[in-house]
Amino acid sequence: MSVSHAKITVAGKTIELPVRKGTIGPDIIEIAPLYRETGTFTYDPGFTSTASCESRITYIDGDEGMLLYRGYPIDELAEQGDFLETCYLLLFGELPDLIRKEKFDYIVQHHNMVHEQFARFFQGFRRDSHPMAVMVACLGAMSAFYHDSIEILDPQQHNIASIRLIAKVPTLAAMAYKYSIGQPFIYPSNGLNYSENFLRMCFAVPCEEYKVNPILSRAMDRIFILHADHEQNASTSTVRLAGSSGANPFACIAAGVACLWGPAHGGANEACLKMLEEICSVERIPEFIARAKDKNDPFRLMGFGHRVYKNYDPRARIMQKTCHEVLNELGIKDDPLLDIAVELEKIALHDEYFIEKKLYPNVDFYSGITLKALGFPTAMFTVLFALARSVGWVAQWKEMIEDPAQKIGRPRQLYTGKTKRSYVPIHERASI
Ligand code: ACO
Repeated sequence: MSVSHAKITVAGKTIELPVRKGTIGPDIIEIAPLYRETGTFTYDPGFTSTASCESRITYIDGDEGMLLYRGYPIDELAEQGDFLETCYLLLFGELPDLIRKEKFDYIVQHHNMVHEQFARFFQGFRRDSHPMAVMVACLGAMSAFYHDSIEILDPQQHNIASIRLIAKVPTLAAMAYKYSIGQPFIYPSNGLNYSENFLRMCFAVPCEEYKVNPILSRAMDRIFILHADHEQNASTSTVRLAGSSGANPFACIAAGVACLWGPAHGGANEACLKMLEEICSVERIPEFIARAKDKNDPFRLMGFGHRVYKNYDPRARIMQKTCHEVLNELGIKDDPLLDIAVELEKIALHDEYFIEKKLYPNVDFYSGITLKALGFPTAMFTVLFALARSVGWVAQWKEMIEDPAQKIGRPRQLYTGKTKRSYVPIHERASI
């Protein structure tokens, strides 16, 4: 809905641009007519003031520390819901009733096997490959397995692709883990729920019975809910941009996994745990705080700060609680890394530098300790994030591809290179 106009004057010409209102959140100035009317572009590196799309899926209020999936607060979903109903909500816009929920669970469950050829696909990787590298490849490979069934303009095909993705990603993630430790792959088990099944595929071995601990599988499920979507972050925007050309959705998700891997994004949970291990003792915290504040030192406190949250990340609160629950259940009374994390958080939250820059713990600050306690090696942390975020990526891809106004994403640039010049034959060039 257009409510008012913003005026902009460029080189003496004034034009009016429509200002649109969302249901909540800042108003948006529509700048699409700008180039046509004035011949100028806007410039916003890192997209700090740019809305790339219209969306109804997820809302973040960074100042309030609020995160809503389709209007529902993240803490209510994490406390009372389960991951698969969160998936349904993100994909279809409403929480399912009992019949729809049972049907959705059944369908996801019955798509969880991957083609047996995948087992051979894995043999091509070195055993010490990073599991995120393996995941990028596996998601890309999914597009080879499902290339002819994806009719990009058919909404029914979008739903099939979404179910396949949500169902098969845990199987591939568990296979990536098993391959890295040289253990046999464990097939999915349909008598278990989503998170129980995933833990079993990761930690069971064929030679003995594996009983899933319900407290730990509930914690795993909650971690998946917390990571399921986060509006137009770097990896989601990557998926949308890749998908805007009409590319195969699994190939687009592979691009999202690649983007997530970086330490400024999903790789932060791995980097955070490494940082806590490097700090090693509570006494050394001030040294690392000083380094984080030193302009000449590239070191940053991992798990701190966020582009959007300028308040406590609401996911970090739930993650902290989940962390304590997991450690209690496992009888881990004194975890030196948790002691360091708690003290580090306390010191940083009272430090002028962090207060002034509004740097608070983000979801990754406590997730590493929790995942380590659950039995995952650090290299798997970002894989678990990718598993959970797959639903957000595919929900956003589906929303984009089904939008009648959708067109290929094509940003412009501020060119600062050489102006036009003539080709010089190689023997006539001055040596450089
Ligand atoms: N430690 C120390 N200083 C920091 C930190 C940090 N973790 N984060 C930001 N700052 C400082 C910057 O040095 C900068 O200072 P300046 O204004 O004096 O130059 C200021 O705070 C603003 O930082 P930017 O990098 O400009 O903020 P941006 O929004 O681009 O970055 C980011 C956000 C990448 C998350 C950043 O806070 C960071 O690197 N954090 C550590 C990595 C991390 O935890 N990433 C996970 C993000 S959550 C997720 O993806 C699930």
